[in-house]
Amino acid sequence: MALAHQQNSRLLSSLTSILIGVDEQQCISHWNDKASETFGLTAEQVQEKPIAECPIDWNWQQISNQIETNLSSSHKTDRFETRFKQHNGSNRLLSISVTPYNDSTGHSDGYLLIADDVTEQKQLESEMQQAQKLQSIGQLAAGIAHEINTPIQYFGDNVRFLRDAFDDISEIIDSQHDLVEQARSNNIAVGQIDKLDEQIDEVDLEYLQEEIPKSIQQTLDGVERVATIVRAMKEFSHPGSEEKTPTDINKAIESTVTVARNVWKYHAEVSLDLQPSLPPVRCIPGPVNEVLLNIIVNAAHAIAEKVGESGELGNIDIATEAVEDWCVIRIRDSGAGIPEDARNHVFDPFFTTKDVGKGTGQGLSLSHKIIVDQHDGELSFETELGVGTTFIIKLPIIGEMN
Ligand SMILES: Nc1ncnc2c1ncn2[C@@H]1O[C@H](COP(=O)(O)OP(=O)(O)OP(=O)(O)O)[C@@H](O)[C@H]1O
Ligand SMILES: [Mg+2]
Repeated sequence: MALAHQQNSRLLSSLTSILIGVDEQQCISHWNDKASETFGLTAEQVQEKPIAECPIDWNWQQISNQIETNLSSSHKTDRFETRFKQHNGSNRLLSISVTPYNDSTGHSDGYLLIADDVTEQKQLESEMQQAQKLQSIGQLAAGIAHEINTPIQYFGDNVRFLRDAFDDISEIIDSQHDLVEQARSNNIAVGQIDKLDEQIDEVDLEYLQEEIPKSIQQTLDGVERVATIVRAMKEFSHPGSEEKTPTDINKAIESTVTVARNVWKYHAEVSLDLQPSLPPVRCIPGPVNEVLLNIIVNAAHAIAEKVGESGELGNIDIATEAVEDWCVIRIRDSGAGIPEDARNHVFDPFFTTKDVGKGTGQGLSLSHKIIVDQHDGELSFETELGVGTTFIIKLPIIGEMN
């Protein structure tokens, strides 16, 4: 018996998880080495003391509520997370599970807390998310720079043309001015009218009269194009809006399609069929735009994969519709489709079929988190190999307030 007990103790102390046994009276019955190391308290210091009075800098009230909830639910062993301050003062994160222990008659005899310090793991996860975000922003930024550069180039060309045209016209205006002066004094020099005719021929006034308005219009269109892109960027990034607000999803789609133009335009034509009467949807616009972007980029990649180097353009069709209390967004592509063995994995973190540098496999797993966890919505897809894929986002129109 003693040997078994010794073996048990050794086993418990060699665990890499924190293990705390709590008896029926809410006093500590077990405290392993990892617990001592983490909380800076020896087993002797805490043994048989009420756990609520343990000098650990954590929110015991919140933890004990969670323990009660877990013990009384059917998901007893679900993990929960809580912050605590280590004895050296650093803030850390624990992931805790509760296991009830029952005596031989099945009577509850307290519970066991198994906890792991998941600070580094969480940090890594959030860094990865941040990196993914930065990567997609970086890709977008390059595309947007390109989109803006084209109209800016023809601003330059047009304004230079207008400057030269104005110089030519100025000369004609000067000659006409001389002619008028001479006419007024009834003293028109011979050849003056011929000189003007020659000048008009030389600068091709007719051509200028046709081209100048075109050039001005082209410049104005370019300005409008740049203004649209800048507006879309502003709408896409939604700085500061971290809360659910009534959002025009149609507009969100238009902005996202605009900022991502450089990603899809070489592979696809995008057509929008947006229900004009779609009511505002209560959501956090930034993350929802990110989901739209992920799915549009995936659609463009799937089309590129199908058409290869042929230069053919596929189709991305985006439609919105209010169905009862839901806003339904369908993003359909004419791409390669999702192979059967990948279908169950596309929402898994880091699942990707793309080459290094092209995909990290986080787009859909993050999108799932955003739509399902953050917005109580649904994210699903329909796919057919060689025909294409439709991703369907459903958002409750009056989202639950978090
Ligand atoms: N529209 C689609 N058509 C075909 N396959 C798709 C489509 N969308 C996603 N997939 C498949 O699902 C995988 C996971 O997609 P996900 O967006 O999560 O990651 P990724 O695009 O590979 O990388 P990342 O989005 O992080 O850049 C893709 O690699 C691809 O195999
Ligand atoms: Mg993706």
